Amino acid sequence: MKQQHWNGRDFPAIVESSGDLPAYLKSKKADVGLLLKNAGTVLFRGFDVAAPEDFDAVVEAYGDDNFAYKESLSNAVRVNVTPRVFTANEAPPETSIYLHHEMAQTPIYPSKLFFYCQIAADKGGATPLCRSDVLLEKLAKEDPDLVQAFADKGVRYSSTMPLENDAGSGQGRSWRSTLSCESKEGAEARLQALGYEWKWQEHESLRVTTPVLSAVRSVDDGRRVFFNQLIAAFRGWSDSRNDASKSICFGDGTAITPDHMAGAIRLADELSFDLQWQSGDVALIDNFTVMHGRRPFEGTRRVLASLIK
Ligand code: FE2
Repeated sequence: MKQQHWNGRDFPAIVESSGDLPAYLKSKKADVGLLLKNAGTVLFRGFDVAAPEDFDAVVEAYGDDNFAYKESLSNAVRVNVTPRVFTANEAPPETSIYLHHEMAQTPIYPSKLFFYCQIAADKGGATPLCRSDVLLEKLAKEDPDLVQAFADKGVRYSSTMPLENDAGSGQGRSWRSTLSCESKEGAEARLQALGYEWKWQEHESLRVTTPVLSAVRSVDDGRRVFFNQLIAAFRGWSDSRNDASKSICFGDGTAITPDHMAGAIRLADELSFDLQWQSGDVALIDNFTVMHGRRPFEGTRRVLASLIK
């Protein structure tokens, strides 16, 4: 696998070995933490991780607090396999999931993600990864005013959620599941508390707009990152309820145009590293510095995820 190199370090970092990954993580947590900080992604290959229960034990051994899908505001339909492991996205194989930071379109997001490939696809199905600090640096060189506008104004996301889960869509999670409620009143109370605006639509679907969220943020060591969901929303949030071109705007309500998005999309595509899964692989991703997505695939592909607070 040909890695990228940024600031003299491999991206992603790869730990190739055999044996027991939980034991490895327990004994090498500080080393793994440093690799993750420097590279943004660590791929563990060759270890004995044969089933979802093994993956659960890997996450457990790493030891950080779980970020539960059930309580998240993620718009993807997912199915829990163990209490802290779930299917990455139930969207159909031909659907591309474009680069994003996990749940950056909501006020609550995980700091890290674990992925586990139980079954690699026959064809395609890579997880593209993109260094968000590198992307932002390049974008700021090309268009400093635009990056300033993203940083100053922030962004708002709009989407329409169905009454029932729609597994045919990458954004098909029902409002009842997303907002952990059973009634319209419950949904409105939760949205009010989160600072969202909303409007009920036909078939009891629910259109929501987030409060102003940041599009650019700084990580601990001072690097700035393109921490948002703009590319995924602009390119991919379209289904029977949603028009992707209406999914994003600046925090002051002004339009984010295709021209605004073109540079970020081109750079992100150029910078993408395709993680071609082998069955048994586990990857640990820093959600603040690395974006991820999913390439279309053929055959059976089973990639599971677990999130860390
Ligand atoms: Fe994701």
